[in-house]
Amino acid sequence: MNTLKMDVLSAQFIQDMMKTTANLYRLGWDERNGGNISYLLREEEVTPYLDINDVKRTVKISFNAKEIAGSYFIVTGSGKYFKNVIDEPEGNLGIIRIGQDGTSVDILWGFVGGAVPTSELSSHLMSHIERLKVDTEHRIVMHCHATHLIGMTFTHELDEALFTKTLWEMCTECIVVFPDGVGLIPWMVPGTDQIGQSTADKMKTTRLVIWPHHGIFGTGTTMDETFGLIETAEKAAEVYTIVCAQGGKKQTITDQQLKDLADAFGVVPRSGVLEL
Ligand code: 13P
Ligand code: ZN
Repeated sequence: MNTLKMDVLSAQFIQDMMKTTANLYRLGWDERNGGNISYLLREEEVTPYLDINDVKRTVKISFNAKEIAGSYFIVTGSGKYFKNVIDEPEGNLGIIRIGQDGTSVDILWGFVGGAVPTSELSSHLMSHIERLKVDTEHRIVMHCHATHLIGMTFTHELDEALFTKTLWEMCTECIVVFPDGVGLIPWMVPGTDQIGQSTADKMKTTRLVIWPHHGIFGTGTTMDETFGLIETAEKAAEVYTIVCAQGGKKQTITDQQLKDLADAFGVVPRSGVLEL
């Protein structure tokens, strides 16, 4: 029986995708088709809007995502420009479901005109798999080309503990927002299963993973939280850029002060960063 469905464009998750892609573009972190977002949806969030038996198309994926077979996501399209999402969500976004054998995805809505999910789908799905193991509330994976963080990967040591410490030092809020620090992988060709595996491996212990000379991946339970996480790390990188341009540090937040901050806000800093 055909039951009447609500307009999917009114769904909160689509509104979140439209607003977030517009914000990321406005901040200059998603030039051209740069960046991608995937948002894990519960079936009951989708059914008020879509007939889940009405599959528009099925596309193959490059690895086996059996662990999350049957899961629903709204995801940005490959080659699609974030600046255009707000005006044309149906052409730039899609709602997908991972096929039962894990090797394909069903497109249930969007991606009109033959569009397909982001080329970074492996990094997204593999990261979802790892984050769900450590946080049952996990929902979002967000990738963008945050300008100052990319810049920092040319001038700062590419060592996770040192990079994390520098970011924590740059703004008092950082250690509270990302006590688990940042993961860093070596430079790799994007859009591959290999970079997906390396990224997801880091996601076992942190919600932020930096791709040198490319961008950052952030994860979280809500769009605001994930965006805020990336925004905070990028702000710290911007301050670092200014500090370097002004001739370098004359004083800083000390390791003891960082520890005091963590204690005051009840967070546990990643081990191996503070020297106390
Ligand atoms: P997509 O357009 O395929 O999402 O790729 C953009 C990007 O940032 C690749 O790393
Ligand atoms: Zn990218």
